[in-house]
Amino acid sequence: MSTETWSAVDAWFAERLRPRDELLAGAVAAGAALPQIQVSDLQGGFLAVLARAIGARRILEIGTLFGFSTIVLARALPEDGHLTSLEASAEHARVARGNLELAGLADRVEVRLGRALDSLDRLADEQVEPYDLVFVDADKRHNPQYWAWALRLTRPGGVVVVDNVVRDGRVLDAASTDPDVVGTRELTDAVARAVSDGKVVATVLQTVGSKGWDGFLVATLS
Ligand code: SAH
Ligand code: DHB
Ligand code: MG
Repeated sequence: MSTETWSAVDAWFAERLRPRDELLAGAVAAGAALPQIQVSDLQGGFLAVLARAIGARRILEIGTLFGFSTIVLARALPEDGHLTSLEASAEHARVARGNLELAGLADRVEVRLGRALDSLDRLADEQVEPYDLVFVDADKRHNPQYWAWALRLTRPGGVVVVDNVVRDGRVLDAASTDPDVVGTRELTDAVARAVSDGKVVATVLQTVGSKGWDGFLVATLS
């Protein structure tokens, strides 16, 4: 099996289940000069299903890029819902804000510019209401810290999703000094402690598709 086959299968299902509308296609076009590391259509669909299934009204996203997952998640919100997305790159935030404006979602989405760890501090200072869903998808080296914040800011019954925990199986390399691999392994240790403390129920969903071989860590808080 190859990425080519996985992509063809992705496309076959996505054409049927995840119709690409003009606005989302426009957002992707506007982001063409940025890294193409957004979730796939079907992975976006998974996030949307989750958000709808738990009736998410408040979503926190860490890592906006040009707003692809942001738009997909924001569309899953009720009209009075809110999404906050944290982004360190001024250029990425600028493109994302434009895309959200065009998608008619600017009223329910705030893109906060700055390093996510700083923005998270700020959100805590502001005593924000707990989130129903947190999607962690920024710099992987900080995933242990993002996980700690997600535990702190998510309501019981809420869901935390962390993207890119498999990365072609690189997570298995205990000798790796790649900060992203180290971050993912430390994240997993932290989630494991939360599991054994009865604080969360968690799993990892490995995925293949147009984005290669990767996976989501998914946890729900007790
Ligand atoms: N969630 C997006 C993809 C995000 S890509 C989607 O699926 O559509 C990762 C993003 O995280 C990039 O835009 C990058 O600029 C941002 N990022 C990297 N380090 C960051 C940090 N420390 N704080 C906030 N954002 C960061
Ligand atoms: C990268 C980041 C992502 O969030 C992703 O989904 C794929 C790749 C990256 O930094 O290469
Ligand atoms: Mg990702």
